[in-house]
Amino acid sequence: MTAKTSADGSPGSSRPGLDIHYEKISLTAQLAAYMRQFSDIPFASDVADLLHSRQVFEALLRGQQMTPEDLTWYAPIFEARYKSVTGAIHRTGSRQVLELASGLTLRGLAFAQDPAFTYIESDLTSISAEKEAIIARLRQKYGLADHGNLYFPAVNALDRSQLQEAIQRLDRDRPLVVVSEGLFPYLSRDEMRAVASNIREVLAEFKGSWITPDFSIKEEVERVTEQQRSFRRIVAAATEHKMYNNAFDSLEQLQAFLDEMGLAAEMHHPVDEIGEIVSLRELHLPAALLDPIKASLRLWVLRLSGEEPSPPAAS
Ligand SMILES: C[S@@+](CC[C@H](N)C(=O)[O-])C[C@H]1O[C@@H](n2cnc3c(N)ncnc32)[C@H](O)[C@@H]1O
Repeated sequence: MTAKTSADGSPGSSRPGLDIHYEKISLTAQLAAYMRQFSDIPFASDVADLLHSRQVFEALLRGQQMTPEDLTWYAPIFEARYKSVTGAIHRTGSRQVLELASGLTLRGLAFAQDPAFTYIESDLTSISAEKEAIIARLRQKYGLADHGNLYFPAVNALDRSQLQEAIQRLDRDRPLVVVSEGLFPYLSRDEMRAVASNIREVLAEFKGSWITPDFSIKEEVERVTEQQRSFRRIVAAATEHKMYNNAFDSLEQLQAFLDEMGLAAEMHHPVDEIGEIVSLRELHLPAALLDPIKASLRLWVLRLSGEEPSPPAAS
């Protein structure tokens, strides 16, 4: 891990995460994009094509006695995760969304087709620039209207000032949903604390919630095959971040962390609620593939402790 200049360009800071380069983690957004192409998620196959995600995957696995096909059983998990987050955003009824570490999902482009939404699809600088170019291509290809309601600022989620800057344009009188999908597994406990505290500050300004599938429990993430272990080693070497290094010992330890952060959590098991997982069919994978991990696929909806949830949308 290289540690030099802070995200705002000033010399190293003592606050966690402002002096660490996270850009190497951005590779994982490409891997997720590869997996999502087998689903019916909007724009997923376009994104995988435009990014040449198969070649990126092959390059990562070169010399490792593993091919992208060996790992396609991940696809239904990515699809389920994406769809569960999307469903949860809809259920909040909120029309303002701030997504952190959004990668190349293009969920914002899908939501922003409805001019009633304002969607901020943030990530680190290089991903945000890449995404902006992809979105321009897709708007042209599909003749999509630009309602001026989709933004892609570069935001290091640990950087409070970048986060505050990104939400300037939002309406404080309307609720906000903050979303993060796939970021926390790469963070240390102090970094998680810094991000959670930044999100808490945002939630204090808006009445709203934070939706994330990102909290992991040690015993569950360690119950994996040798192939998964090898793949994690490859990703850790490429990103210089060991995944799940800071998973929680138990749900009770996670609860204590959330209490400490002043957040109240509702925990959902979304897999049974999201309808067909298309990639299972597309990849000829057994329907029962997700059964053993269903219990560990969770989604959290968090609010400031003591705050009443907003009423659900009338749709
Ligand atoms: C596993 S990918 C998930 C991307 C996307 N949410 C998805 O589900 O495909 C992790 C993402 O975290 C982003 N990331 C890593 N460190 C970050 C940070 N400090 N602040 C914001 N984003 C970060 C990476 O650029 C990458 O897009």
